[in-house]
Amino acid sequence: MNRKDFIKGSCGVCIALSSGFIMSTLLESCNTSLSVVKTSSKNDVVSIALTEFEKGDYKLVRVSDYDYDLAIQKYPDGTYKTLVMKCSHAGQPLTRTGKNYYCALHGSQFDHEGHVKKGPAEADMMQLTTSVTDGHLIIHLKNNS
Ligand code: FES
Repeated sequence: MNRKDFIKGSCGVCIALSSGFIMSTLLESCNTSLSVVKTSSKNDVVSIALTEFEKGDYKLVRVSDYDYDLAIQKYPDGTYKTLVMKCSHAGQPLTRTGKNYYCALHGSQFDHEGHVKKGPAEADMMQLTTSVTDGHLIIHLKNNS
């Protein structure tokens, strides 16, 4: 095998391996069945019908007039927790990875409850006051708990 054939062969292997890695990463991220609810707020309050949670205990909510997606977890006792998908380090939107959250800007990681797992972020994810009223989940965008 001459040098030219060796380089061609090596590049082919590298491309195949890297595309396989990228595909497996993409498939892994697709494996999480995310359900996105698109809505808007009124007077800084978001109302979501509880029927949205009949097919799953986790919802990603995209509010048209809010800068970050909301991650809502329903617990077996019927309570809900709303996390703002904003990195506490410098405000980068977070990505859900499995059940946790990742910041692509500087690499911070948060667990499924919004607690810092890895810095540079030092503070947990912001949590919003969330309650249940008349068959709806009520989320206060300005009143943090
Ligand atoms: S903005 Fe997220 S780690 Fe810096």
